[in-house]
Amino acid sequence: MKALILAGGFATRLRPLSCSRPKTLFPLVNRPLLQWIFERLADGGVDEVILAVNALTQFYIRQQKPCKCGLKVRFSLDPPKNPLGTAGPIKKAEKLLGHDEPFIVLNGDIFADIDYKALIEAHKKANALATMALCSVEDPSCFGVVELCKDNYITRFIEKPPKGQVPSNFINAGAYVLDPGVFDFIPEGRAVSIEREIFPRLVVAKQLVGHCIDGLWMDIGKPAEYLEANRLLLSSFAHKIVNPKNVLAEIKSPVALEQGVVVGEKSILGPYAIIGKNVKIGCNVTISNSIVFSDAEIGDDVKLNGAVVGEGAYIGRHADIGDGCIIADQAKVKENVHMRDGATVCPAKEISENVL
Ligand code: GDD
Ligand code: MG
Repeated sequence: MKALILAGGFATRLRPLSCSRPKTLFPLVNRPLLQWIFERLADGGVDEVILAVNALTQFYIRQQKPCKCGLKVRFSLDPPKNPLGTAGPIKKAEKLLGHDEPFIVLNGDIFADIDYKALIEAHKKANALATMALCSVEDPSCFGVVELCKDNYITRFIEKPPKGQVPSNFINAGAYVLDPGVFDFIPEGRAVSIEREIFPRLVVAKQLVGHCIDGLWMDIGKPAEYLEANRLLLSSFAHKIVNPKNVLAEIKSPVALEQGVVVGEKSILGPYAIIGKNVKIGCNVTISNSIVFSDAEIGDDVKLNGAVVGEGAYIGRHADIGDGCIIADQAKVKENVHMRDGATVCPAKEISENVL
């Protein structure tokens, strides 16, 4: 079984963290999102994955080398300067995906605990070209929303409907099983939106069915959602997390520490502290509700609460950073700086004054 992962978007709402890494490589409890996705696909019986990306995302993935979980991984690149949208890359990968059997397509920017075997079974049972995983959310207006009839056929699909005009709370979870017959619906050589151009046509042809999923599903589109997704995953997988034993800090669970973390005396980590590989933390530091990417350095007496600190960033002594603030990769916050209210520092920039 093959799967195509759409991962060529620009994650603009996650800037400045996404200035230096694609969303699919954002760490979720210290593992890149892509690795969580690979793991679930491998469990679902997939053996080959095609990553539909742009050249920059390909570069970052090759550099970071996330664990492939036994999958054969290939790239299919959008043409430079002309991203192909969410259906164009499927058409472009037609030869790689082949015409022999159905394949999976999924958005590479969501965490979804999908049982792919069950999704494939549902597709085999239904008499349609496409089966869409659905989940139920409180506010569906920023997603693709469906109207379902009793036999699970989707009778309407509206991408991001205006508030008050949503047909149901069931949204497109961003994972599909498609028959090769869907290739005939996608025009070649241009950007095509699967949500705005292809699904509505499949609905008219009575070729789109829905399959409700009930596992954890999270969109990490905005910084607050990214923090929340980490928090939820940390709670859900707390029993599986083994923290290194030689860390002397006081630990308030749940906490996830990667290998090589060094912590000075009297520091308190947690609750909800996620610390990446080789992070150096000084003395008397408190870190709660925060994510620190690998190789960052945190000086003595620093307080982090509700912050994200990027890879290789440096936080000077006595700094106090809270409330959704983001320090991007390789950035530097000087001593005594206080930051609040979602303030951000761009990659490799330096800040020496308070941002309140
Ligand atoms: N290769 C490639 N080229 N990939 C792309 C392109 C492109 O031009 N544009 C977007 N993608 C990828 C993104 O990286 C992402 O993984 C996926 O396609 C979906 O695009 P988004 O831009 O993130 O769409 P969205 O979040 O607004 O909405 C989509 O996801 C929702 C679920 O999170 C839609 O599919 C909605 O219907 C759905 O509910
Ligand atoms: Mg998205």
